[in-house]
Amino acid sequence: MPISHRGPYDIGYMEPEAPIGIFDSGLGGLSVLKEVRSLLPRERYVYFADSAHCPYGGRSSLFILARCTEIASELLGRGAKILVVACNTATSVALADLRKMFDVPIVGLVPAVKPAVALSRTNRVAVLATPRTVEGESLHELICRFARDTQVYTVPAPGLAELVESGVVGGPRAEEALLPLLSPLVTAGVDVIVLGCTHYPFLRETIQDLVGPEVRLIDSGAAIARRVRAVLSDRGLLSRADSGGLEIVTSGGAAAAEMASRLLGEPVRATAVG
Ligand code: DGL
Repeated sequence: MPISHRGPYDIGYMEPEAPIGIFDSGLGGLSVLKEVRSLLPRERYVYFADSAHCPYGGRSSLFILARCTEIASELLGRGAKILVVACNTATSVALADLRKMFDVPIVGLVPAVKPAVALSRTNRVAVLATPRTVEGESLHELICRFARDTQVYTVPAPGLAELVESGVVGGPRAEEALLPLLSPLVTAGVDVIVLGCTHYPFLRETIQDLVGPEVRLIDSGAAIARRVRAVLSDRGLLSRADSGGLEIVTSGGAAAAEMASRLLGEPVRATAVG
């Protein structure tokens, strides 16, 4: 039986100055937060990093749904007017159920297959993603829908999200993990690589160095930012405040909070939750 999330957090009571709630299995969704924030700088943001349970990839669907439900409740409890599921795994497992349970707009994200196909000149694109996303039904459906005449190489990248989570975004360890995944793609003539996990934009420079300037890298962050703006604008919920703000909430303790600050390149106000 779906739980309807009514009461003080009901969308009917929302103020434009209420915060935007964003979450991920860990810190990867900060790449999405960056994009949304740069498009909507007057908004207040609460970002939940579930770093104690990252990655979600090896977890059961039931576990992921339970975590997403708890995090959504936490963010709505902090007054969020919209939720952004900044995680491919959480989106594919939980988005539909979250929308049934909670009465606020919820934006999810999928790998940027459609724009990648439009950009490719060689008709060869690759999707670099977690093993769970690569095996999942939703990526398969995206490819069937948008890439009929394009060769799509789906590349599982076990351990890559965890590297970013531990702050490794460049240097020998990152290169060693990436090179075996990327060199076959370059050899195959791939000219667009989709960064199909929200952790991967933090590896963008390293990936670009390895594949060379001819290969384009794209992710879903900017498209999600535009979607969030459109949804808020339609509902009259865009903030009119002079400046925005950011609070990080994490299940990963002080270490995750410190890493969030490193990845964002700025000091952050962080709260640890159990
Ligand atoms: N950032 C998540 C994603 O976009 C990582 C996945 C995971 O935790 O398994 O898919």
